[in-house]
Amino acid sequence: MEMRMMIFKSYEELSEAGATIIVDLLNQKPKAVFGLATGGTPVGIYEQLSKMYSEHKVSFKEATSFNLDEYVGIPQQHPESYYSYMQQHLFQHIDLPAEQAFIPNSNAEQLKEECERYDLLIQQNGQVDLQILGIGHNGHIGFNEPAQGLLSGTHIVELSDDTRRANARFFDTMDQVPKFAITMGVGTILKARQILLIVKGADKADIIERALTGPITTELPASLLQTHPHLTVLITEDAVTPATKERTRV
Ligand code: GLP
Repeated sequence: MEMRMMIFKSYEELSEAGATIIVDLLNQKPKAVFGLATGGTPVGIYEQLSKMYSEHKVSFKEATSFNLDEYVGIPQQHPESYYSYMQQHLFQHIDLPAEQAFIPNSNAEQLKEECERYDLLIQQNGQVDLQILGIGHNGHIGFNEPAQGLLSGTHIVELSDDTRRANARFFDTMDQVPKFAITMGVGTILKARQILLIVKGADKADIIERALTGPITTELPASLLQTHPHLTVLITEDAVTPATKERTRV
């Protein structure tokens, strides 16, 4: 495993470091293709990127992005759709052209065809240069939930109760939390040239230890990242257990 782990005292430092990695890549390769994640963890990186853009340190004009996932069953304009999330936290603040920013369209009439279209689009743009990833408390990546088997390409997934409970904080009632989503598959995620896994908070300490140091299993989708040739983990120190530190040899 070619893994680099960077431990930070604060979430602000982690976010700055994550944004700097992205900006450095863009400045070297303006046409870079990014895989983008949602959830609470990347918000700080997106804030930093917006700030660096406003300071003229970077341009996204020639870049392309593919989001990992989107809820099924809520309109695109719903405040908790990942479309709205990306507008709010990143896209409205930077110069990435809308036609180069892709998010699965969960309001398409034929969802299966939309999944195929999405995979084709990713393929047509070549390889994802850098994939940003968070990790769910149950070890999911994107919305690839723990299971006996995992799918490689973009597909529809039924969200686990764990995931729906974790995401209930963004909705008024549990009933409003979507039950399904479209997600990139683990095959697509693992094809990225580089993966930036971002982890914050003591509540992720146990799952990240198991993901990075335990057996590789589809029952813990993030454990598959151990097989990736270029994985960078940005993590706050409260999420690092002694075993994680010891076994990842930092
Ligand atoms: C969500 C997203 C994931 C994200 C994860 C963790 O459900 N689909 O892409 O990584 O949950 O989110 P958070 O960063 O809020 O803990």
